[in-house]
Amino acid sequence: MIHVNELTKRFGAFVAIDRIGFDVAPGEILGFLGPNGAGKTTTMRVLTGFVPATSGTATVAGFDVFEQPLEVKRRIGYLPEQPPVYPELTVTEYLRFVGRIKGLPGRALSSAIDRVLGACGLTDVRRRLIGNLSKGYRQRVGLAQALIHDPPVLILDEPTVGLDPKQIIEVRELIRSLGGAHTIILSTHILPEVTATCQRVVIINDGRIVAVDTHAGLAARLRRSEKIRVTLRRGTTEVEAAIRAIPHVVTLSLEQADEAAGRSWLVEAELGHDIREELARCAVSKDWGLIELRPVTLSLEDVFLKLTAEEAVA
Ligand SMILES: Nc1ncnc2c1ncn2[C@@H]1O[C@H](COP(=O)(O)OP(=O)(O)O)[C@@H](O)[C@H]1O
Ligand SMILES: [Mg+2]
Repeated sequence: MIHVNELTKRFGAFVAIDRIGFDVAPGEILGFLGPNGAGKTTTMRVLTGFVPATSGTATVAGFDVFEQPLEVKRRIGYLPEQPPVYPELTVTEYLRFVGRIKGLPGRALSSAIDRVLGACGLTDVRRRLIGNLSKGYRQRVGLAQALIHDPPVLILDEPTVGLDPKQIIEVRELIRSLGGAHTIILSTHILPEVTATCQRVVIINDGRIVAVDTHAGLAARLRRSEKIRVTLRRGTTEVEAAIRAIPHVVTLSLEQADEAAGRSWLVEAELGHDIREELARCAVSKDWGLIELRPVTLSLEDVFLKLTAEEAVA
């Protein structure tokens, strides 16, 4: 649905985004994750046709962002980082205004307004002045204006910034409910946001893409070794030596020794060697009282820190 290839944007000598490329499949929710200044907003402004790229190509729904900007704009709903505010308009007046700008004719406009009011949970506040709404509701108004012309693609720049925890949950739910029927790119500098909402993540740092993958894929790719946590009820002195003797085991460290909960070790094996079967066989045959045997994975946070740190060093 969206193809981006070798996209570069310079501001004078400064390279804000540097030959970035990624694809978004129809109905997918893609997270664009990176620290402040990474180039997220710049990428979104290029994709929505607000600023021209310096080089590279991008297409949305088969239309070239630079050659056919009007066709592209028709198919994108954009929630900018700072949504335009019209505090003196009511929600309905504002949506009517945006709908007219987007070229919706009278009758279609009224039903479009009803549709987005419903979709964004705004029906009850439709006659309120935007200036009197909470930040969470204003963000919903921002989403409603992005949806008014029923675009297949949504580009949402930091959609939950500045919201309180309850509002964040509500807006995330709303975005998730829009996936499937819409192809969505959302940017964020907050990790839990992508975990909560997105199917795939593009990690961007200093204008460059450092990884594109699913959460599980990212974690797996960054694993330098296979880590297993093993918990035994009756760990005797022979345990450590026996585990070390299992082929491909590299290190072993005691994590917890608790009378009630048992003793657990973190066992590290060479990459590509799954030692779980052998470990289980050993534990059973020696009657250690195996309680738990579990691979230890990196959280997305570990992955993110690792990737951006590696990029900074490179
Ligand atoms: N119009 C502009 N002129 C000069 N530099 C800009 C402009 N817009 C953005 N930048 C710079 O480009 C970099 C990326 O910014 P931005 O895309 O807003 O990052 P993000 O949204 O990831 O925080 C920043 O260093 C920012 O200062
Ligand atoms: Mg930004």
